Amino acid sequence: MANENKSVWTSISFWRRSAGWVTGFATILLIWLTFDTLGQIRMGTDEELKEAVAQQKEINRVPAPTVINYHINYKMDEKRGHEVPVIGKKELFFGKEWNPQEAAELLHLGKLTSQAKNCMNCHTLLGNGAYYAPDLTKAWLDKAWQKGGPLQAMTGKNTVEEAMAEFLQHPSQYPTHARMMPDLGITADEAKGLVAFLKHMSSIDTNGFPRNFSKTVEQFKTGGTNAH
Ligand code: HEC
Repeated sequence: MANENKSVWTSISFWRRSAGWVTGFATILLIWLTFDTLGQIRMGTDEELKEAVAQQKEINRVPAPTVINYHINYKMDEKRGHEVPVIGKKELFFGKEWNPQEAAELLHLGKLTSQAKNCMNCHTLLGNGAYYAPDLTKAWLDKAWQKGGPLQAMTGKNTVEEAMAEFLQHPSQYPTHARMMPDLGITADEAKGLVAFLKHMSSIDTNGFPRNFSKTVEQFKTGGTNAH
C-alpha cells in the first residue's frame, strides 16, 4: 500500500533509468555531431569546386586549394545574418592557372612557412594567435591590396597577389600603421605560398568571422581608415 502511493519523483529506479537514457542519448548525439563536424570542415575537391561554381551551388566550407584560381568575394546572407563567401569567375594567380597538384603544393608551402615564421606570434589566423597585428583570416579581401588601394600603390605592383608577396618579403619598406611588421627573411617562393595560403583562407566559410569584417573593408571605399 505504502509503495503504491509513492511519487515517481522520489523513486530511485526512475532516476537511475533516466540517467541511463540521458547518458545514452547524449553519447549518440555527440558521436553524430563529431561526424557532422568532420564532414563540414573536410576540404573539398577540385571537382566539387568546379561543379559548385558552374551550377551556383553551395560550396564546401573549406574549398579545394584550386580556389586560388577564382575571384573571391563576399555577400551578406540575410537568413544566416552574416557574410558568406562567393566564388566568382576564374582569374590568374601569379600569371597562371594552377592545376590541383600545383595548387596543393603551393598551399602546403604557405602553411609550412606560416608556421616556420610564426605569423601567429603577432597575428590571428581563423581567430587563433596573438593580438599585436590584424587578423589575417580575410586579409586577402582587404581593399588596401586592390587596384587603387594604398598598399598596391605603395608596392608598385598591379595585382593583389604580387603586392602582397612584395610586402611579405620587405614589410619594413611599407609601413602603414603605427606598428610595423619586421622583415622575416621570407623568400619569393615562400611569399607566393603565403599569399596562396591567405587567399585560400579568405574563401573559407567561417560563419561570418571576423564579425563585420566587410564593414572594415567598406571603409576604404569611402576613404575612411581601416580599424586595424
Ligand atoms: C613581429 C610581429 C609580426 C609577425 C611575426 C608577422 N607580422 Fe604581419 N604584420 C605585423 C604588423 C604590426 C602589421 C601591420 C603593419 C602595417 O600595416 O604597416 C602586419 C601586417 C600584415 C599584413 C597586412 C594586413 C592587411 O591588413 O592586409 C599581412 C598580409 C601580414 N602582416 C602577413 C603576415 C604573415 C603571412 C606573417 C608570417 C609569415 C606575418 N605577417 C608575421 C606584425 C607581424
